[in-house]
Amino acid sequence: MREKAVNMLEMAKRLVAPSLRSDVPPFMVMDVMAAAARLEAAGVDVIHMEVGQPAAPAPSTARAAARAALGGAIAYTEALGIPSLRRRIARHYADIHGVDVDPSRVIVTTGSSAGFILAFLSLFELGDRVAIAVPGYPPYRHILTALGCEPVMIETTAAARWALTGEALMAAHRARPLKGVLAASPANPTGTMMKAEALADLIGAAHDAGIRFISDEIYHGLDYAFPATTAARLSDQAVIINSFSKYFCMTGWRIGWMVVPPPLVRPVERLQQNLAISVPTLSQIAAEAAFDGRAEMEELKHGYEANRRILVEGLPKAGLDRFLPVDGAFYLYADVSRFTADSLEFAQRMLAEAHVAATPGVDFDPVQGKKFIRFCYAGSRHDAEAAVERIGAWLDR
Ligand SMILES: Cc1ncc(COP(=O)(O)O)c(C=O)c1O
Repeated sequence: MREKAVNMLEMAKRLVAPSLRSDVPPFMVMDVMAAAARLEAAGVDVIHMEVGQPAAPAPSTARAAARAALGGAIAYTEALGIPSLRRRIARHYADIHGVDVDPSRVIVTTGSSAGFILAFLSLFELGDRVAIAVPGYPPYRHILTALGCEPVMIETTAAARWALTGEALMAAHRARPLKGVLAASPANPTGTMMKAEALADLIGAAHDAGIRFISDEIYHGLDYAFPATTAARLSDQAVIINSFSKYFCMTGWRIGWMVVPPPLVRPVERLQQNLAISVPTLSQIAAEAAFDGRAEMEELKHGYEANRRILVEGLPKAGLDRFLPVDGAFYLYADVSRFTADSLEFAQRMLAEAHVAATPGVDFDPVQGKKFIRFCYAGSRHDAEAAVERIGAWLDR
């Protein structure tokens, strides 16, 4: 009787045992967010610079279009997206980058997050090796792993402005062949950007070696040091991933897009039909109208730019004088190795004592990340100024 019960327990355990591929690491920033929430619940005024999203809502044009659409049926759309939205996205490339993109190559996705899944599934086989930059956005490696591909982490250097280079890519490819490479400019967590020549060099090296190139352009529009270059201007073979989350302040709407080479359109369409049917319709309608709200978004961008200046000028005076080039997105990646060998502990202490929340670099770089913390400056001017002041007073103690 007892033996039967034990066997049943064992079987039950086996039935719900999670797959190995689901064993991806958590996001450490969540620990900082939870600690910040506990402090706030206790009445402490915390400055949030840990979460990578704008504080502002979507453009008013997007919100109005969504409100109007709510009067009617919200039905499935074509798997590739509402045709007028695909055309509007294609026009965006002509307007902003002077590049002709055929709307048939544009695919609407559930945020850029779904774009990665569709890109990896349509481009790679199980076991394929895909290069990514370190430091980098953690889900790149976790999605690749979950899908059975192997992320190949290439350390970036100050000399290469913290970006992948053709030379580093080729060195990794010679060690063991690569099938793909993914790069972002502006990048998260570094906020650094690749000049057009650097991006062209990387894409050229990749394509010459038969390596597929994926460009994460989610922070396009948020460029301060120099204009960001789209990979669409440099190659018709690149897979481009973008999103309404950051520039258009639509993180929770879960809407993005891809531009893919013509032979990939139908495979991605079939995947999307089966994985998602279509992208949330209300968000697609709002996204199309978001393009008419660019003036509002440009205002916000000027605000980020002002915050950037406050941090770039203020943090060195406050004691944090080493950080990567603050080119774009809304991140500043600071080297705190003068103060700690453990950035998680530093971030926790800064939160507890200075009441400023930032993200430890360990999420983005398992090795060097212990030396860095990331500040997001997409909040208010008051927050940027208060953060500099609080950090200065705290480091002075
Ligand atoms: C570099 C980068 N790519 C992609 C994403 C995913 O964004 P979403 O799925 O909202 O488009 C993020 C989110 O923070 C990011 O930082």
